[in-house]
Amino acid sequence: MKSVYLSMVSKTEEATSTFGEDISKGLSQQPKQLPSKYFYDAKGDQLFQDIMNMPEYYLTNAEYEILDTQKSEILELIGADTFDLIELGAGDGTKTKLLLEHFLEEKADFCYSPIDISGNVLRQLKSDLQRRWPELCCEPLQGDYFKILEDLALTHDVKKVILFLGANIGNFTRERAQAFLEHVGDYMRQEDMLLVGFDLKKDPEVILNAYNDPAGITAAFNLNLLERINRELDADFDLDQFKHWETYDPITGATRSFIVSMTDQEVRIGALEKTFHFDAWEAIDVELSQKYDVPMIEKLAREAGFEVVKNLYDEKRYFVDSVWKKR
Ligand SMILES: C[S@@+](CC[C@H](N)C(=O)[O-])C[C@H]1O[C@@H](n2cnc3c(N)ncnc32)[C@H](O)[C@@H]1O
Repeated sequence: MKSVYLSMVSKTEEATSTFGEDISKGLSQQPKQLPSKYFYDAKGDQLFQDIMNMPEYYLTNAEYEILDTQKSEILELIGADTFDLIELGAGDGTKTKLLLEHFLEEKADFCYSPIDISGNVLRQLKSDLQRRWPELCCEPLQGDYFKILEDLALTHDVKKVILFLGANIGNFTRERAQAFLEHVGDYMRQEDMLLVGFDLKKDPEVILNAYNDPAGITAAFNLNLLERINRELDADFDLDQFKHWETYDPITGATRSFIVSMTDQEVRIGALEKTFHFDAWEAIDVELSQKYDVPMIEKLAREAGFEVVKNLYDEKRYFVDSVWKKR
């Protein structure tokens, strides 16, 4: 089988300096901001798996139900015997395994290429997949999907099926979501397919509870970003002096996570040779989780150069996996 050429790249000094540069830039801005992609070190990966198992985090169950009940339809929509299955931000692949199992049962000729910024999660995923399905072609690639997408341009004429699950698209502002999707579209041909998971607007209480669980797992996940800066960049954030804060705006659909400084304080980041000042109750913007409705999705698809082929919903209509092709 021909497939996309992908290889595992080990963590490099370049990656560490990019991390430092991004943290320095984010903490020098007004308001302060930290990129959510840095949540995912080994501890962050584990905490995210705990989040996915929380009863309040409906997103995983809703998308799991869609893929489980509609996997045959997805294979029909692919409509090709041979294809490359490329996943952006694959994580632990829990839901994707439903598709992999079904595609293998149906004897589809495909190669799976999970892309993720976390080398740790990719190593776990690869060994898990090899144990379960030794016959599966699996070629992971570690890195930022913005950069790695460019490698996809080197590919050949096998149909590409690109997955972007888990409402990852919601981490982008509307403008960045469109630019990102246009970028993905640049590496797609007419016959290729894109499946994007969107979290839908719903009861605000349901949404807020998913990001503000009483057990404090989401708070620990967000605050781990400061711990990671302490570990990797020799910083002295005192975690007891910061708190997690979550908001949901039912008009715009924006769910936002903040880390708030509970006191006037200074934090030294040794590796950057810099000290940052935090006023009492100053907030760091750490993550956007944008909720959509169907007209917003259709508009986004159109303006990014796609058309919606089919929307696949769970029974409660909490979530949609939207299947697109290029216009
Ligand atoms: C919210 S998790 C979702 C995982 C999986 N798609 C799911 O639906 O369960 C996001 C995943 O995307 C990865 N990720 C986040 N930003 C990324 C980026 N810019 N490039 C590559 N991977 C990224 C994270 O490491 C993490 O594993």
